[in-house]
Amino acid sequence: MTMDKFIIQGGNRLEGTVAVSSSKNATLPIAVAAAILSDSVSIIYNVPRLQDVNSMCGVLEVLGAKTYLDEATLTIDPGPHDAYEAPYDLVRKMRASIYVLGPLVAKLGKARVSFPGGCAIGPRPVDLHLTGLEKLGANITIEHGYIVAEASKLKGADMSLRGPRGSSVGATGNVMMAATLAEGTTTISDAACEPEIVDLADMLNAMGADIEGGGTPIIKIHGVKELHGTEHIVIPDRIEAGTFMVAAAITRGDVLVKNALPHHLEAVTEKLTEAGVNINWQGEGAHVTVPDKLSAVDVRTSPFPGFPTDMQSQMMGLMSIVEGISVITENIYPDRFIHVSELNRMGANIRVEDSSAIIKGVEKFSSAPVMASDLRAGAVLVLAGLAAEGETVVSRVYHIDRGYEQIECKLASIGADIVRIP
Ligand code: EPZ
Repeated sequence: MTMDKFIIQGGNRLEGTVAVSSSKNATLPIAVAAAILSDSVSIIYNVPRLQDVNSMCGVLEVLGAKTYLDEATLTIDPGPHDAYEAPYDLVRKMRASIYVLGPLVAKLGKARVSFPGGCAIGPRPVDLHLTGLEKLGANITIEHGYIVAEASKLKGADMSLRGPRGSSVGATGNVMMAATLAEGTTTISDAACEPEIVDLADMLNAMGADIEGGGTPIIKIHGVKELHGTEHIVIPDRIEAGTFMVAAAITRGDVLVKNALPHHLEAVTEKLTEAGVNINWQGEGAHVTVPDKLSAVDVRTSPFPGFPTDMQSQMMGLMSIVEGISVITENIYPDRFIHVSELNRMGANIRVEDSSAIIKGVEKFSSAPVMASDLRAGAVLVLAGLAAEGETVVSRVYHIDRGYEQIECKLASIGADIVRIP
């Protein structure tokens, strides 16, 4: 963990082409599948170089796999499949470590995974992961802060993975991975439809799994005896793409966001368009141009294909400096508003009521020293800094590095004045 800072001189209009890296949230479970479920080597291409990917490789190494990251190519040798414990020290660094639970119990009949705690964006329960695995026949107990799951052989089952706030991406991925090696057929209804789940299903099928319906609310997994290594190219990161689209909008710029996929970003495109941003989808990506005046729009986050919670803070940054009042309602993580106080320190006028933020547009941000407290909350501070008058210093950049590959270099390449200082 580094204590780097970003120094941003605001006010530059972003212009040019910026390329989006591959998806963090697709890479993480795909690496797990390759390391734990497979009996032979996999090669994963276009892997983003991110702290979270390193953390996941750390977890997989503890579980006996060998991981080699060379530029954007990740080679995973599953190893002997004899370790089944993901310790607290690693899991607490990254909640996505919970993804090893289902695959371990499916492959080894046993898993011991530290219970992930809450985090800066609020409580993040894992009950759906556990009930899903129990439906497949795993016996689950909680001991000394660890989840222990055991099963001599998982058996296919029918289940819904819908929680109080809609389907769970993580539980869908966890159960889907486990069910590939179960006996018989598993049907997940109310499955998460996120593109990262589709990418994981594609990876698993290339490994020899038999999964139908990825990307729809009903996923059917016919269990197979074994899975083998494969080669896979990870999908682009839709949240990084959306963040650059907002970066263009907030600086009233003219930017081609390359590698972005339109069907991953329909809700974001719709809301930005409603605010007045021009988005022209071309073969290469999204060409974003911006008139002088943008207007306030209301946003409600929801599971895919709705407006993503991971784009909520960035949209709030944009709404902070448009004319009018917008209401942003957070339906996935009702407490995910830690960025609000820092944005207000930069001159925004935002009030939180229950799970909604009411944003009264102001003319501009004024620069300030601010602190990133989580990945997306950090991203919006960079965006605000780009649009602010004067010098903004963003500290605790390691939060941003978890999910954005060299964001400062990419932004500088399209005209931002941003530097990293150690
Ligand atoms: C994934 O988290 C992403 N992380 C998150 O991205 C993203 O915000 C989230 O999906 C929603 O899109 C990864 O893919 C690694 P969920 P996940 O289970 O899978 C509730 C980022 O910034 N729930 O779909 O953990 C939960 O509390 C991160 O990149 C239960 O009630 O999210 C939430 O309200 C942050 N019980 C809702 O479901 C459970 O067992 C959706 O969560 C699991 C979840």
